[in-house]
Amino acid sequence: MVTLLSNKLCMFRRIVGSIALAALTSAVQSQEVRHKDAAVPWWKHAVFYEIYPRSFADSNHDGIGDLNGITSKLGYLHDLGVDAIWISPCYPSPQKDFGYDVSNYESIDPMYGNLTDFDHLEKTAHRDDLRVIMDFVPNHTSDQHPWFIDSRSSTTSVHRDWYIWRNGKVPGQPPNNWISDFGGSAWTLDPKTNQYYYHYFEVAQPDLNWRNPAVKKAMFDVTRFWYQHGVAGFRLDAVDTLFEDPKLRDNPLKDGTNEFGDHEMINKYNDNLPENHQVLKQLRAIADQNDAVLIGETWTDNINQLKEYYGKKNDEIQMPMDFMFTTVNQLSASKFREQIALQESAKEWPVYVISNHDMERSYNRYGDGKHNDQIAKVMAGMYLTLRGTPIMYYGEELGMENNDPKRKEDVKDPLGISGWPENKGRDGERTPMQWASTKNAGFTEATPWLPIPPSYTTHNVQSELSDPQSVLQFYKKLLALRRESPALLDGRYIPLNQNNPSVLTYMRSYQGDKKAEDILVVLNMSGSSQSIQLDQPSDGKHLTQRLSLLTSFPTESTQKYDDAVVMDPYSVYIAKVVR
Ligand code: NOJ
Repeated sequence: MVTLLSNKLCMFRRIVGSIALAALTSAVQSQEVRHKDAAVPWWKHAVFYEIYPRSFADSNHDGIGDLNGITSKLGYLHDLGVDAIWISPCYPSPQKDFGYDVSNYESIDPMYGNLTDFDHLEKTAHRDDLRVIMDFVPNHTSDQHPWFIDSRSSTTSVHRDWYIWRNGKVPGQPPNNWISDFGGSAWTLDPKTNQYYYHYFEVAQPDLNWRNPAVKKAMFDVTRFWYQHGVAGFRLDAVDTLFEDPKLRDNPLKDGTNEFGDHEMINKYNDNLPENHQVLKQLRAIADQNDAVLIGETWTDNINQLKEYYGKKNDEIQMPMDFMFTTVNQLSASKFREQIALQESAKEWPVYVISNHDMERSYNRYGDGKHNDQIAKVMAGMYLTLRGTPIMYYGEELGMENNDPKRKEDVKDPLGISGWPENKGRDGERTPMQWASTKNAGFTEATPWLPIPPSYTTHNVQSELSDPQSVLQFYKKLLALRRESPALLDGRYIPLNQNNPSVLTYMRSYQGDKKAEDILVVLNMSGSSQSIQLDQPSDGKHLTQRLSLLTSFPTESTQKYDDAVVMDPYSVYIAKVVR
């Protein structure tokens, strides 16, 4: 990674009719029997769902979500058709970076509940066939973590070398030119010992010293602790920033300044150092002992960098997220086709996301303001039918939209406070889950910690469950279809009609131990109707006879007998090729 997180985050800040039910009923009915295939690692057939715990469900009505709230909604998630939930950090934390500043890795913040609540959540999830993934923050702790409190207490304290401490270059000047992702120098002078500590992120997030074996041991033990509590893996936060150049050389400068007014630079000496991979291999070995999966927050500039995270012997992260996919910040068939081709060229197992707690919601990023619901279905129709494992973001299945703060004094996210007005922060994509059209969207009876957008009255679970055309119903049908389709789970990706700039067309083709299956996916990413003449796939197969499985527009007949597909503006057509 050579770009800054803030730059990365900034990239994302601004950067149908009836549903055909044919052949889907059986998929929906068999929802109850979850797909199990011993030959394939569980996470390859799973759909993951990210939960931001502050915003999911508030069981004790203090305006902030909690673990019991999540437990109460597991039935919803099971019915939705996801297989694993990733809970963003819920450990004790002063909440300077809303949980990514951890002050105790082996407990639960009282605002979310306690370990007993966690165990209850995990057991209930297990019963509902859902696995629980925790967020692991290895790069830094909170400055309120006892390790850091001890570390800063004296130059000879037991934990001094658990963090990165250095003298200034000259008095009054930080050790080098590195800048923090939250703006300003990445070094803060601590008057007590008159040395600087290093923080890649916020001032209150000092970096751990991963060259210290005691740090490694303590952090590896944290993962073991949670495996004992039944977790099925971790999402690894900021995995590319664990190590720093031992000589602390200045980073090369680039032209211009960033949104914080800092000089742009290439993070050559504090990002993506080779030593990262040794740690990942060790974390993976522990994960393997626990049938667990590691998901990487892997920001990369090119496919080779992303490929490295899998490990040369597939012995690092099983699921490094492809964030390059999210940099396609335009509803463009050509651009997505290109990015998918790049990912396919790596010959690894792709991990696609379109939204998370650090980027503007996909509903806004791709929506045109008028056809956002249709577009949300097109996006789902794409990334939930591509080869690989998708990770959803809570509320995406409803068409939840961003609700950015209007005034600086309302901003909660430290990134928005330092970056205002260019960067309004990430509050907008972290607003409470919209459960109902009642007050506060059914999230809480108190004042919610972030304001809910007015669109909650139409875009909420309760209303959408009773509307067959809703985004939620589309997601449910698509997830059910995916679960039952060998082609969508394991089939090859075969691009078709590659010169078409408006319509993304591909086939997922399965020929394995189960019954062979070919699924055709056609996605009209343009605002006008499109008629396409389907390419003949290179294997000579005919696509003429098809059984429509799921569309986002009315279809007269579920059977097709020609090579043409006529698509409504912003629409999805998924069909089984009949042989
Ligand atoms: C990445 C997390 O996703 C983001 O929310 C956080 O601010 C940084 N890491 C620092 O932990």
